[in-house]
Amino acid sequence: MKEKEILQLMQKMTLEQKLGQMSLCEFGDLMQNSDNAFTGPKGEFALTASQKKIVGGVLNFKGAAEMIELQKKHLEEDPNKIPLLFMMDVIHGYVTAYPIPLAIGCSFDTRLAERCARASAVECATGGVKITYSPMADLQRDARWGRVMEGFGEDPMLLGQMASAFVKGYQKNVDPRFVVGGCAKHFACYGAAEAGRDYNCVDMSDYTMNSYYLTGYKACVDAGVTMVMTAFNSLNGSPCTGNQMLRRKLREEWGFDGVVVSDYNSVAEMINHGYAKDLREAAKLAINAECDMEMVSTSYLQTGESLVESGEVSMEQIDKCVYRILSLKNRLGLFENPYGAADVQAEKKYYRCPEFLALAREAAADSSVLLKNEGMLPLQKKEGIALIGPFADNKDIIGSWSCNADTQYAVTVRQALEEEGVSFVYAAGCGDKLDDRDESGLDEAVKAAAASESVILCLGESMRFSGECKSRTEICLPEVQQKLFERVYAVNPNVSVVLFQGRPLDIRAILGAKAIFTMWQPGTEGGRACADLLFGKSNFSGKLAMSFPYCVGQLPLYYNHYNTGRPFRPDGNLNEWKSKYIDAPNAPLFDFGYGLSYSKFVYSDAKISAAQLGENEKLRVSVKVKNDSDVDGKEIVQLYIRDEAASRVRPVRELKDFKKISLGAHREATVEFFLEKKDLAFYHDDGGVYAEAGEFEVFVGGQPSELLCMKFVYTDKKNML
Ligand code: GLC
Repeated sequence: MKEKEILQLMQKMTLEQKLGQMSLCEFGDLMQNSDNAFTGPKGEFALTASQKKIVGGVLNFKGAAEMIELQKKHLEEDPNKIPLLFMMDVIHGYVTAYPIPLAIGCSFDTRLAERCARASAVECATGGVKITYSPMADLQRDARWGRVMEGFGEDPMLLGQMASAFVKGYQKNVDPRFVVGGCAKHFACYGAAEAGRDYNCVDMSDYTMNSYYLTGYKACVDAGVTMVMTAFNSLNGSPCTGNQMLRRKLREEWGFDGVVVSDYNSVAEMINHGYAKDLREAAKLAINAECDMEMVSTSYLQTGESLVESGEVSMEQIDKCVYRILSLKNRLGLFENPYGAADVQAEKKYYRCPEFLALAREAAADSSVLLKNEGMLPLQKKEGIALIGPFADNKDIIGSWSCNADTQYAVTVRQALEEEGVSFVYAAGCGDKLDDRDESGLDEAVKAAAASESVILCLGESMRFSGECKSRTEICLPEVQQKLFERVYAVNPNVSVVLFQGRPLDIRAILGAKAIFTMWQPGTEGGRACADLLFGKSNFSGKLAMSFPYCVGQLPLYYNHYNTGRPFRPDGNLNEWKSKYIDAPNAPLFDFGYGLSYSKFVYSDAKISAAQLGENEKLRVSVKVKNDSDVDGKEIVQLYIRDEAASRVRPVRELKDFKKISLGAHREATVEFFLEKKDLAFYHDDGGVYAEAGEFEVFVGGQPSELLCMKFVYTDKKNML
């Protein structure tokens, strides 16, 4: 459809029909189920029969057959024949579940991220999805918040690169049928919910917001993301769904002219926030903040005509929203083909096809992080093994928010070992609930361990306890799991702990294990990837995208912190009047950027091309990396800077680049990076983002505690030194 045809269509539409396009409801609101019942929201948000005919979009449906049936029905009933926009939360896969985004972030492999997103798009487009509510681009520094499983960790640069890779994977495809619109969420700063409690308020300075928390959304907008979703939380006193500061930032400063959708009911929830006195005011605040589509609550349809009649909302604003929505539908090809790639036959071809399962297995291995290994892994023999723990034969490892991925297809560790012909004894040992107290299974597990040469102990946190609305005040392993570890270790110290988790956990209780690695929530192929890692068919290459705290009391915790006026050195003593705790270290248990491998990477010969960097120059930073082992591997070489003195305090370390390189056994490579003034720039109160002349440190390496440090001076005309 041409632009003028969109305008002609809008001229035909009534105000109510336009408000209908701005409304988004559940599939169950429009299509009765097998009991002939509508399963959408009841009460004040129930749609009337005539309103159901004019809504603009729908979310949460099962696949191609449902989509085709509803789209067909809708096109018969909608007076303007405007196709519905079908949307879903395809967060880490649609029917094939890939590792959760936090795990993908640990791969530090944007190409892998893009591949997983693209494969997800093929599956979900075949199921009739045209928009996915992904990537979540919220920066996260607090493991108490259950939604950290959905994000890409604590570093703004890594987060931005990963989120952009997801946008590219969804939105770029040589076959336009499989193009799915991405939706950057949750705008904004939802990851900073106070005390890690979901939906809680957020309050932060412009400096922090612009330096860290907004960078992920901006990266998505720069990558051309189709849609942005507003966040539930209030930000500095104004709920995001009606926040004028955010409107200015997104629409005016960043120039985003795509569709903004509210989060689920977040328009109406401005009443609970105490920001709107009723539905009518909530609608007014949201529409005037250019929130184009209202998800599930129906304040636009209920009060929009009265708001326009009174002049509290202009017809021009309504038309801007509707034009964006119709243009989006047009760009997605819906007017020419309202069914997109929805195809019941093709579902059989693409869903969990061998190519996607192989990708899921590769991604699960490459996003796992080896935290400790004292000569224990890879296991040399495939016999004399005890496989123990509540996650050893648990399909929950598929992960939270796994959309239409059926848990029954998740391959467990136990199934994978059986497939591999491993001879092992199995004992669950205990349950996987957080408050599990049942110790009746411990004896059997201990017996199995005592009779075996080595133990694979699968512990962690079930997917039921992370994700949305799953904040926790305690993040240590459940007591019964700690007891299981202690008793097993007491009879057989050759223990390798495999962790499954949706958030960093306090794992001090199991640090005595000879080997520890996390697979996070690895998806459909998690068990097979686990076996590949255990027996060395795959090599570890992941690094932590989010720090593992020593304990929950340290949260929020992040590596790119400020030094303070009284920095406490790790070797300092507790009598010093320094910024410290008297009952815990400042340092995390495992730091951002940390991860081991079966290979041994040795860094040397770090070089910088000059001691001075001029305003329009580039600095070359190089370092030699040698794989000093017999095992081929991949290494994530990281580059950080530190601005030693500036007009605002700057972090002790800032990731500025990373390269994941493959290095064969005993091979060596020189890795180079380039720094220029844009890499030194930071947000200033005047809204500008620019560098200041001064002394900088540059760090390069593969482990946060082994970085090679060099110095340079940045000089520019303004502040020539
Ligand atoms: C949820 C989430 C959001 C999701 C939306 C639709 O409450 O906050 O991330 O996209 O509702 O399911």
